[in-house]
Amino acid sequence: MKNVIFYFTGTGNSLAVAKKLANKIGDTEVIAISNAIKEKGLELNYERIGFVFPVYYYLPPNIVREFVNRLSFSKAHYIFAVATYGGIYGGVFKDLYECIKNSGGVLNAAFSLCMPGNYIVEYGAFPEAITNFQSKWEKRRVGIIAENVLQRKSQAIPKGNFISNLFTEYSYKKVKEFKAMAVNFHENGSCNGCAVCSKICPVGNININDGKPTWGNNCEHCMACIQWCPHKAIEYGNVTQKRRRYKHSEISLKEMMLDESE
Ligand SMILES: Cc1cc2nc3c(=O)[nH]c(=O)nc-3n(C[C@H](O)[C@H](O)[C@H](O)COP(=O)(O)O)c2cc1C
Repeated sequence: MKNVIFYFTGTGNSLAVAKKLANKIGDTEVIAISNAIKEKGLELNYERIGFVFPVYYYLPPNIVREFVNRLSFSKAHYIFAVATYGGIYGGVFKDLYECIKNSGGVLNAAFSLCMPGNYIVEYGAFPEAITNFQSKWEKRRVGIIAENVLQRKSQAIPKGNFISNLFTEYSYKKVKEFKAMAVNFHENGSCNGCAVCSKICPVGNININDGKPTWGNNCEHCMACIQWCPHKAIEYGNVTQKRRRYKHSEISLKEMMLDESE
């Protein structure tokens, strides 16, 4: 295929956007970064290369940054990024711009897309009236992004503002801590050992031992395990017990299970 979109997702927002964009752009492969990162010497024989991912503390997820750092771009590539976010995207593109530059490419265009927030550690799912409204906005915005990408439009990359730059050090410190933060996940007694959490974890950080999940120290903090558990059997510390779960309404569990969908 002529084009590719690499995505990372925890609750389906970024996957929904990647799929819709690919559909509109045409001739576009959609590849999970969690799978692509395992390949050695990935060839980028594409015209347009896109990255779609959630914003974590004003930054791209660790795995996205690691993946981009391993790639080798040429100046002929048209490279674009779409960051899905819940409220404030800060300096997310500044970081990605640097990563792409270090890998020999140019980030030609960067688009933000406000979607339902999924950080259940801080808040529960938004009310349905809001997510319905956001869903309409998502469709419109995807159309606009696809037009820009089809025309290979370049634009000035938003590099964050004074406030987000003030938080940069804090953000890097925070996302570095993610790997070990899985220690706070636990099952609440409703677990029946179905292993959905283990199959859905994009970095294979969950094992089932004696019919119960155990978390390792390679967490992306994406919230997939807690949000997709069919029995609401996973909690984070003592803050999520009463919070409504969230996942994108157009993405299925099967699509999230990378080994089975690809
Ligand atoms: C660990 C974590 C940190 C987040 N940080 C931010 C943030 O700094 N700004 C923001 O607007 N949204 C933030 N969010 C919300 C997500 O970026 C947003 O819901 C995104 O669309 C989720 O995409 P996904 O469903 O593809 O995982 C955060 C979510 C998580 C899990």
